[in-house]
Amino acid sequence: MAEETEIRTYDPPEEFVRQANVKDASVYDEAEKDYEGFWEERARQLHWFKEWDQVLKWDPPEAQWFVGGKLNVAYNCLDYQVEQGRGDKAALVWESDEPGEGKSYTYSELTAEVSKFANVLKGLGVKKGEPVAIYLPMIPELPIAMLACARIGAPHSVVFGAFSADSLRDRINDCEAKVLVTADEAPRGGRKTPLKKNADEALADTPSIENTVVVRRTGEDVDFTEGRDNWYDELMQEADAECPAEEVDSEDILYILYSSGSTGKPKGIVHTSGGYLTHVKATTSWVLDVKDSDVYWCTADVGWVTGHSYLVYGPLSNGATSLIYEGTPSYPEADRFWDIIERHGVNILYTAPTVIRAFMKGGTEDLEKHDLTSLRLLGTVGEPINPRAWEWYHENVGGGRCPIVDTWWQTETGGIMISPLPGITATKPGMATLPFPGISAGLFDEEGNEIEGPSDSGNLVVKRPWPGMLRTLYKDPARYKETYWEKYGDVYFAGDGARRDEDGYYLITGRVDDVMNISGHRISTAEVESALVGHQAVAESAVIGRQDEDTGQAIVAYVILEGDREGSDELIQELNQQVRRTIGAHARPKEIIFTPDLPKTRSGKIMRRILRGVAEGEQDLGDTSTLADPSVVDDLKAARQ
Ligand code: PRX
Repeated sequence: MAEETEIRTYDPPEEFVRQANVKDASVYDEAEKDYEGFWEERARQLHWFKEWDQVLKWDPPEAQWFVGGKLNVAYNCLDYQVEQGRGDKAALVWESDEPGEGKSYTYSELTAEVSKFANVLKGLGVKKGEPVAIYLPMIPELPIAMLACARIGAPHSVVFGAFSADSLRDRINDCEAKVLVTADEAPRGGRKTPLKKNADEALADTPSIENTVVVRRTGEDVDFTEGRDNWYDELMQEADAECPAEEVDSEDILYILYSSGSTGKPKGIVHTSGGYLTHVKATTSWVLDVKDSDVYWCTADVGWVTGHSYLVYGPLSNGATSLIYEGTPSYPEADRFWDIIERHGVNILYTAPTVIRAFMKGGTEDLEKHDLTSLRLLGTVGEPINPRAWEWYHENVGGGRCPIVDTWWQTETGGIMISPLPGITATKPGMATLPFPGISAGLFDEEGNEIEGPSDSGNLVVKRPWPGMLRTLYKDPARYKETYWEKYGDVYFAGDGARRDEDGYYLITGRVDDVMNISGHRISTAEVESALVGHQAVAESAVIGRQDEDTGQAIVAYVILEGDREGSDELIQELNQQVRRTIGAHARPKEIIFTPDLPKTRSGKIMRRILRGVAEGEQDLGDTSTLADPSVVDDLKAARQ
């Protein structure tokens, strides 16, 4: 593999190794010899009310971890930390959209707030096992609401704040939540999203909702429905700060998180309690090297899995200080991130390649205004990082001294699966490197054969169960089985393509299904297509993700119009609006191309490879002989001019 031999290798710096949470490479062999025993040892780092009777029950594709064990996830993240002497140390530090504004909660304070909100939820009739929907900005009330759910054993379903009213409605209806926690508005980058207004629209068609709890974030006047809507601050004032943590079963649901799949309907990914917390606590400590003395910053939105696992549950179960930032990287000035790192003395930064590439474009001037020497470790997640961005991050943000952990995982995996261990693994820019101890990854070809040794391509699989794995898709076990466990039998099909080099290192190349990855956000082509055909001018549409140097991939929509409708700039605007209204602003196409026809095979299947080739300006589009009408290709090329 010529490209890879040119890639430099970076050994873990000595200074880092000296203080690393794990530095002995024998952990890999030990975990390999007895992976159940390995995870059992990790589970022992948690607080359990009752120990498990069995580590793993594997009845493919159904896994149960720490069977019979009883614990409480919020207790582990709060009370247990206080018991270990961390009561007065900062658990959450919140930086608002406006520089320098924010607040901070110690572990004791956070325990009290969570207990109060747990009592609020109970007061609204929420019982163990009943899902609660959460649609909030990046404010402390978001982790507080999640932990309050965990405290009473009610699964939470967090809906990312950029999702539209329709998306919120569908997610609420799927899990039949009785309570929605939201806010008046969500400020971000100097702009405000009207969350309560969106929620009101959604709630017009959500029969299960009985109550909402509304956080006053900006104080803006919002409509209020008596008997249904409640102010957060008013309920909290009355609430008792004592709420015993419910003993939940290791396999009780901790949360449902909806994620895009290959069809238009999002999948309700289900995570349970004991195995999930074991996985995220262990990986936060081993991969992100978080110690309780650290100020740790994961920049992901809590509306996505990274925020769940590595802003809330991972760092708090390790007793660290977790920073939560409401705004965007460049508001009000382009140096906002660096300003935050300097002011809060951030030691570990975990962010996305898109963010790094955006900063890289702006040059190093903004960085140079700030002292970033508090940083010890850098991480990336969510999409492939190109070696140039990796090098830039290493040299300019990490001052050449901080290891980078490029972590591959998914909403489904719950926690990090492939990543360097920063005190052990020599890194190569662009490569996620090795499976975490106890994880068995592999590559399969399209025919179902396992590929051994180095390979330029293959479908990434996980060969045995792991504790953080999704347990099912909410109310849809058949889709769970079909999506992940049918292609290769009892082997988990991740939906990603990967390469493997002579050192066994993995490089993830991207999705092999119809899921796009825009700035690390997962969006399915089918969802955008169905939003577009919802517009009366659109007869048919095909959506693809093309490469984009800023956002990794960008959405390109090919649209066939109804009858004699003509394409225009106004129509492009309308279609963008349509997608924004149906899914959310983050799913708007970057390019909309009107075309008289689409490239289809004789059996009517759209050849997306060709659409991608046209969108990326490729001259040679490969074999087009299987097309029902090969002349479509010229039309498409002309339409893009
Ligand atoms: O394609 C992979 C990409 O993100 C997908 C998972 O998206 P999501 O479930 O939203 O979770 C994102 C955060 C874990 C994967 O299927 N992906 C994630 N991490 C990496 C990555 N691609 C390349 N390198 C990574 N480190």
